[in-house]
This record gives sequence, C-alpha cells and structure tokens, in this order.
Amino acid sequence: MKRAATMALIIFASWILPHRAQASTASTALRQAVHAGARLFQEAHFGGHLQVPLNAQAAFASALSDQAPAQNTGITCATCHLHGGRTAGRLPDGRQIPSLRNAAAIFPRVAHGRVVTLGHQIRHCVRQGLGGTAPAYGSAALVDLTAYLGALAHGQRIAIGTPPH
Ligand code: HEC
Repeated sequence: MKRAATMALIIFASWILPHRAQASTASTALRQAVHAGARLFQEAHFGGHLQVPLNAQAAFASALSDQAPAQNTGITCATCHLHGGRTAGRLPDGRQIPSLRNAAAIFPRVAHGRVVTLGHQIRHCVRQGLGGTAPAYGSAALVDLTAYLGALAHGQRIAIGTPPH
C-alpha cells in the first residue's frame, strides 16, 4: 500500500515538474518580451530622423511637465504616448492622442473601411509618428511592442472595435 502511494507520488511528480518548468520558462520569455517592448517604446527611433520641432517642444513641455523631451531628442513612441502609453494626450496641433491602456483589448477595428490589427497600427505609428521604417510582421521588435501593449491592457475588458479609454 505504502509502495503504491510512493509510486503514485513519483508518477505525479515526474508529470507535474516538467510542466511547471515549462510554464516558468514561458513566463520568463514573456516577461523579457514585455520588458524589451517597454524599452523600445521609450527609446527606439526605428531609423527615423524626425526631431521634435522646437516650437512643438514648448507645447509638449507644457503638456508633459516631467516628461518633456530633451532638446533635439529624436521622437519615440513615448514622445506622444505619455507615461508609457497610460495617459491620453494631444499633439501640438490639437489632435487627440489616445491612452494605450486598453489598446490591446479593442483591436482589431475598422479604419477607412479596412480591418486594422494592433500590428498594423503599431507599424502605422512607426511610419507616421516616428518617420521610421516599420518593423516587419513577426520581427522581434513588433512582437515585443505587442507584448508590452498586451501587458498594459492586462485585465481590461476585451471589446473589439470600441473606442480607446
Ligand atoms: C507623433 C506622435 C506619435 C508617435 C511618435 C506614436 N504615436 Fe501612436 N498614435 C498617435 C496618434 C495621434 C494616434 C491616434 C490616431 C491614430 O490612430 O493614428 C495613435 C494611436 C496609436 C494606437 C491606437 C490606440 C487606440 O486605442 O486607438 C497605438 C496602439 C499606438 N498609437 C501605438 C504606438 C506605438 C507602439 C508607437 C511607437 C512605435 C507610437 N504609437 C508612436 C501618435 C503617435
């Protein structure tokens, strides 16, 4: 009887332990992707050479106070999407910049009659916002930025096609 219990324990342990190890490797990989995405969001220029124009710097500075971009710093995602994307803002020309808190929960959506995924939108912002070269689909950069936006939206209600927070 005791032996049977020991055997059962060994079988159980040999099944559960590798699964647990796999799960923790997976969560480490995910954490790393989110971390790398957060860094790209703050620092990457994607080959873009746009500068924050001096007159716009003043506008950004008054809007952001603690987050004003340094003089002649190239544009990154964080120049427009404040506090890591958690806060909505406004471009110097008055256009709304949405918060990204629920972006990963509300894509895909329709724009100009086409279905737009989160990946499309990120690539669009790299081209239009940063003047950069959009990271390829499946590239580490796009995966990491997507993972970062997914982490921002953790716990948000999935409601595709609805407006941002
Ligand atoms: C020059 C300012 C600017 C920069 C830089 C910028 N964005 Fe945006 N972003 C916008 C504006 C304005 C919108 C809303 C209009 C639109 O959808 O294009 C937007 C929308 C988005 C949305 C959709 C949010 C929603 O829920 O509607 C995502 C996601 C996003 N940006 C991600 C990024 C990422 C990632 C980067 C960096 C690679 C980035 N943006 C860089 C201005 C910018």
